[in-house]
Amino acid sequence: MNFRLLKNRARLAYRIHQLNRKGGRAPLIAYLLIENKCNLACFYCFVDINNQEVHRLTTQQVFDIIDQLHEAGTILVCLMGGEPLLRKDCGEIIDYVHSKGMMCEMTTNALLVEQRFDAVKKLDAMMISLDGDEEANSKSRGPKAYAKCIQAIQMCLTEGIPVRVNTVLSRYNRDSFHHILELGKKHDFFVSLSIMADTHYSDAKVVNPEEFKKNCLKDDEIRELYRVILQKKREGYPVLFSEYTLKNVIGYPEPYSEILFEGDPRRPGLKPGACMYGRLMAYVDTDGMVYPCAYQWGPNFKPKSWLAVGFQGAWDNVQAQLKCVDCSLSRLAADEWEYVTSPQGMARGAYVTVKQALRKSPAPVA
Ligand SMILES: C[S@@+](CC[C@H](N)C(=O)[O-])C[C@H]1O[C@@H](n2cnc3c(N)ncnc32)[C@H](O)[C@@H]1O
Ligand code: SF4
Repeated sequence: MNFRLLKNRARLAYRIHQLNRKGGRAPLIAYLLIENKCNLACFYCFVDINNQEVHRLTTQQVFDIIDQLHEAGTILVCLMGGEPLLRKDCGEIIDYVHSKGMMCEMTTNALLVEQRFDAVKKLDAMMISLDGDEEANSKSRGPKAYAKCIQAIQMCLTEGIPVRVNTVLSRYNRDSFHHILELGKKHDFFVSLSIMADTHYSDAKVVNPEEFKKNCLKDDEIRELYRVILQKKREGYPVLFSEYTLKNVIGYPEPYSEILFEGDPRRPGLKPGACMYGRLMAYVDTDGMVYPCAYQWGPNFKPKSWLAVGFQGAWDNVQAQLKCVDCSLSRLAADEWEYVTSPQGMARGAYVTVKQALRKSPAPVA
């Protein structure tokens, strides 16, 4: 059983409650982008991965930012990219996060899980990106990805690593995301279902803008899908989001691609600070830039790099510019963090962790 995971989840929940009560700010959860290259080219990807200037931090620089995050109060480091498993030193990085007593999770496209399994085994949890059945996933994420994801889920479950699958909803998979929920139900992993984020607030370009436009669901369709997802949740499917979060997303009154900023006449009086992003969560890019969230990469937000001003300076810069008051990402991901760290969410998480840890040989995933 992973006691570090259970202890740190409890610590995270306590700190979130504490800071929410006092209105405090600290980067308790840090999304650390450690690799800006990728071995896939998912049509909707907003990270602008392969077009970025290459700024690959050295192992020592990654250790430095981990030190600074630890000093700033981070409890959970989520390794991301690009594709984090492209880095040969990912095992050392995970060890380093653990040496500071923090939790380490990763989001991956799974292509290299088998090759880097010695490193993967060290993770506290794994998020695997899978968009539907083989046909839908091949359209979204490329022909090799489906089989690799199924293999990776199997390997992680066998090793007792908690697995979550993330699915980005689009026209390609609107009918086939049920396939992943069925897999999740059979093999006991949670599925998060995300809105395909428009990037008009940012200067990042999606991998294939034409395909993005063609496959982007309309707001009514998104709302309807979340109603179906809510129904699935009630039927016992392993939808990660709580009913509270799902209802909040369905109820977002503005277009899903819009962020509301302070002073917007549609919601006068709303103040920044309700969302956990930028307040309790930080995004650290491969070039060192610190952002509040992935929605605010771009011209409206002027990031600073921890390489130039230190993490605390770059984090203070985030605080000085946080003027957003509501958005769909906040309703989905940030609200969910509030839920999973609530007593009810914690009890559910502990139950699943214990169940996964006790399971010896899961049935083949297929
Ligand atoms: C940017 S990827 C990086 C990690 C890894 N390469 C992967 O695909 O899991 C992290 C997550 O963001 C999701 N993602 C990428 N572009 C997105 C977009 N435009 N809207 C919503 N989610 C997106 C991916 O599907 C993936 O689950
Ligand atoms: S979503 Fe992940 S796998 Fe797909 S292109 Fe972006 S970084 Fe690569």
